[in-house]
Amino acid sequence: MKDLFGGAAPYYAKYRSGHGDPAIEHLAMTFGRDSTVLDLGCGPGTIAIPLARSVREVLAVDPDEEMLAEGRRLAADVPNVRWIRGDSTRLRELPAFDHIVMGRSFHWMDRRTVLAELDELLPPGGVVAIVGPTRDPQEEPWEPAMRRVRDEFDVNTFTASNSYQATGEHPHDVLAVSPFSDMDSTMYEDRLVYDLNAVIGLQLSYSYTAPARLGTRVESFKEAARKALAGLNRTGRWEHVAVTEVLIARRPQK
Ligand SMILES: C[S@@+](CC[C@H](N)C(=O)[O-])C[C@H]1O[C@@H](n2cnc3c(N)ncnc32)[C@H](O)[C@@H]1O
Repeated sequence: MKDLFGGAAPYYAKYRSGHGDPAIEHLAMTFGRDSTVLDLGCGPGTIAIPLARSVREVLAVDPDEEMLAEGRRLAADVPNVRWIRGDSTRLRELPAFDHIVMGRSFHWMDRRTVLAELDELLPPGGVVAIVGPTRDPQEEPWEPAMRRVRDEFDVNTFTASNSYQATGEHPHDVLAVSPFSDMDSTMYEDRLVYDLNAVIGLQLSYSYTAPARLGTRVESFKEAARKALAGLNRTGRWEHVAVTEVLIARRPQK
């Protein structure tokens, strides 16, 4: 698997927003205290770490060793998260789990194959939860400036090949024709405030502008971003209302 997020992990852990407490509580209530939950594409534990308070164990699985290292560091005192290097093509190698959650990660996977395999691996009542932005997210206020900078650095074209943007198929569409076609969707709003450094740090957390992708141009990218962002907003304070969808998918009852 190629290095999608090379060097991004510390920026991801520091600058990417979580999904908000209400979304995590929703997941916890759905899974139940007695469950073992697979967090597939866990990154630095954005879901795994807060969820661990409310379930028996989280299997936090990611192909990126740097993401796992950030997660282990952040969760040094959380005993019930098991950090495992793995990915969506090696689900059968994992310990057994009762439910699965994928936060901002399903678009990196062969979604139909994953759901077919989950139908074999999840016990009766097992839930597939998908957490991430809504179908048509509100553009972040810094995007007009950042788009110009990405154009300048010729890094504006990257999209995960299984994303809604690339395929025209939203997770809802894929789930609707899968064994987990019984869906329930809830939206949560979170008002986020960023300063200039946080907006720049956030850019380095994205796969398309991860440090490994920018290579020797990281510092010049940061400088160009700083200039473009200051030109758009002199206050240095940015606000954005993020809307997160928690999509719970189950097998239909017979
Ligand atoms: C945007 S991060 C999401 C992190 C976290 N789950 C969250 O909710 O913010 C996507 C993660 O998916 C991982 N990933 C990419 N391809 C994957 C695959 N085929 N199977 C599992 N994880 C994958 C990446 O390494 C990355 O850490």
